[in-house]
Amino acid sequence: MGYVGLPLALAFAEEGHDVVGLDADTRKIDALREGRSYIEDVSSESLAAASRVAPGSDQAPKLVATTHYEDLSECDAVIICVPTPLSEAREPDLSHLIDSATSLSGVLRRGQLISLESTTYPGTTRERLLPILEESGLAAGRDFHLAFSPERIDPGRTDYTVRTTPKVVGGLTEECTERAAALYSEICDTVVRVSGPEPAELTKLLENIFRSVNIAMVNEMAMLCERLGIDVWEVVDAAATKPFGFMRFDPGPGMGGHCLPIDPFYLAYKAREHDFYTEFIELAGKVNQNQPAWCVHRIERALNQVSKPVNGSRILLLGVSYKAGVGDIRESPALRIIRLTREIGGDVAYHDPHVPEPGELALTSGDLDEEIANADLVCIVTAHPEIDYARVVSDAELVLDFRGVTRGIEAANLVRL
Ligand SMILES: NC(=O)c1ccc[n+]([C@@H]2O[C@H](COP(=O)([O-])OP(=O)(O)OC[C@H]3O[C@@H](n4cnc5c(N)ncnc54)[C@H](O)[C@@H]3O)[C@@H](O)[C@H]2O)c1
Repeated sequence: MGYVGLPLALAFAEEGHDVVGLDADTRKIDALREGRSYIEDVSSESLAAASRVAPGSDQAPKLVATTHYEDLSECDAVIICVPTPLSEAREPDLSHLIDSATSLSGVLRRGQLISLESTTYPGTTRERLLPILEESGLAAGRDFHLAFSPERIDPGRTDYTVRTTPKVVGGLTEECTERAAALYSEICDTVVRVSGPEPAELTKLLENIFRSVNIAMVNEMAMLCERLGIDVWEVVDAAATKPFGFMRFDPGPGMGGHCLPIDPFYLAYKAREHDFYTEFIELAGKVNQNQPAWCVHRIERALNQVSKPVNGSRILLLGVSYKAGVGDIRESPALRIIRLTREIGGDVAYHDPHVPEPGELALTSGDLDEEIANADLVCIVTAHPEIDYARVVSDAELVLDFRGVTRGIEAANLVRL
């Protein structure tokens, strides 16, 4: 019932299906039972509506939250959307998937469809999930159906929804694919069938790695533009006017979130098993990983221009979440910028309307006006839409914009990436 599972559960409930929302985190289950959403894209009103029953009705609510796998035994379909992070050694950590599959195999029953949505390397469904589920004594493809269907949700996006984003499905057998396609056609207008779980798993990685490589390329272009004294945003804006053959990607402080920084490692891991080295992909990862350090170099240069050292200067970060309009700080480049700036003596503060208290930083979001007045340098790290950037430039002593949101403003106290 995280970023992926909750919107999906709600989409099925809103189509009139009886949905069981399971999570190992009791805080999430308590929130769901109280009709309280913890995800920006899901309103508490729609959640409460799905979790409520009409007065006097003896029907159960459409969405029921639980921590017990036994409650899944009545379900026709079970969709797994657990995290697939990296271990300390930057290798795939499938422990959540293995835990979840182990619990599920204890309650699996004949006729169920199991669909995995967690992003992972090709082969996971067949090589890792299937054997655990078969510990139930039931055979995949015969007694129960098994498929992989990548999740394409983009938190904060409103122009494409669960319904209008085509859904890719690949089953273990043709029947598994058809069963999964039937399930997802309940909530998606377009279902795209592929020949098995592996192409479906790799489709998701291709989509994200495509983004990662292009972001790395435009980040490298931004570094070169600094040397050349050319505004990279002006160049990207101009190139984006080409109606064909160019797709816009914007430079920035680096990649964050649960997908882009992690997915390439999943594929690189699988490739190594086959004596293949994904050099292009790893190079992109390297460039993007170095981007926060480059941002800190830009902070040093910006302060240097006004004859100040980083050591002892008050530096305000505007936005710490990994992308605009959301409160997710997983792998956010802002966290590394904060750490690296502190290491060289910077006195860091932040303001983020979506992240009141990130926990691990021992910081809380400060009042915007007060913090701007106290800062030697304001860095725009996340382009949250509710902030008036023209006012930030006019009120702040010095502004460094990593997101290009000040395009069109010319001011002596403003530097862009
Ligand atoms: N967030 C996104 O934008 C996005 C987009 C596409 C794909 N994905 C992929 O989808 C998967 C889930 O991502 P997410 O962002 O929803 O993660 P999340 O952390 O928001 O949610 C995952 C949930 O799984 C629960 N969980 C962990 N182990 C469990 C277990 N054994 N049994 C029951 N619940 C368990 C966690 O408590 C958590 O609430 C990942 O593989 C991710 O890469 C995410």
